[in-house]
Amino acid sequence: MTNASSPVLQGSLRAPPGVALGGFADRIGAPALKAAATSWFVVAVLGQLLFVAYVIGFYGRAALQGRFEAWNKVLPHGYVAGDTFGNLVVSLHLAFATVVIVGGALQLMPAVRRVAPAFHRWNGRIYLASVLLMSVGGLVMVWTRGTVGDLSQHVAISINALLIIAFAGMAFRHALARRIDLHRRWALRLFLVVGGVWFFRIGLMAWIVVNRGPVGFDPKTFAGPFLTFLAFAQYVLPLAVLELYLRAQAGRGSLQRVAVAGGLFALTLLTAGGIVAASMIMWLPRL
Ligand code: HEM
Repeated sequence: MTNASSPVLQGSLRAPPGVALGGFADRIGAPALKAAATSWFVVAVLGQLLFVAYVIGFYGRAALQGRFEAWNKVLPHGYVAGDTFGNLVVSLHLAFATVVIVGGALQLMPAVRRVAPAFHRWNGRIYLASVLLMSVGGLVMVWTRGTVGDLSQHVAISINALLIIAFAGMAFRHALARRIDLHRRWALRLFLVVGGVWFFRIGLMAWIVVNRGPVGFDPKTFAGPFLTFLAFAQYVLPLAVLELYLRAQAGRGSLQRVAVAGGLFALTLLTAGGIVAASMIMWLPRL
């Protein structure tokens, strides 16, 4: 077993290279993992707030001015004259997008939980009710109103909705039973699947920038192999990375922690790149 106080690991004796690396990893593994996760979270929250600013600045402003048809510049079925129920579902979907994104970020901030535990509980209830409403509303929108994309994307986003509903149930169940570690794990998974639509947007814009144009899909029909891949990857990849993070955090392998921390730092840069691309191409120009 490794021992951080060992003179071998502190380098006072000539240690074989593997052992020296192990000692270094022992010292920096846990703090590096924490720093990497925090940096990703900070960047992601800033990027999600830009998405919220766009929702309020574009959809909210048009609604306040009574120009609901302006929504159709982005959403082909955003506003359908005469379809009161459908328009209400879309309006609630957009309004609750802001509640869910801001509320989700606050739920995961340790300082908020520490300083205001009652707020965490109430905000948590509002968050869970909101994500349920959005998922059910999203399913109604996809399967009754129609939206951009082909069947594969509709199936993928519907699975996303079902995962949100399932993970919300798990996070709530474990919170009620005071199983805090399990509650935390399911809440983190929930945060990522709720962010699926956001991951889709930053992923797509990063892809377009890297390839200098739409590659792997037809921009007119908004269908093609890359979009099918991305529609599933928007939640499968973040969930896979989270599992690696949770295993590294709970396990004893220092090298594993360093490796996952390195991967998370790289993903932080990638996420930042996607946010810049999405902001410049989609969000800021519509404000
Ligand atoms: C829970 C997290 C979600 C958030 C924060 C969210 C947010 C949004 C936002 C901001 C838009 C406007 C799109 C834009 O201007 O880029 C939108 C549209 C849409 N969302 Fe969601 N959404 C979520 C989940 C879902 C789910 C799970 C589904 C499907 C099951 C869904 C279905 C749709 C559809 C179909 C549209 C477009 C409607 C149209 O084309 O007329 N959303 N969503």
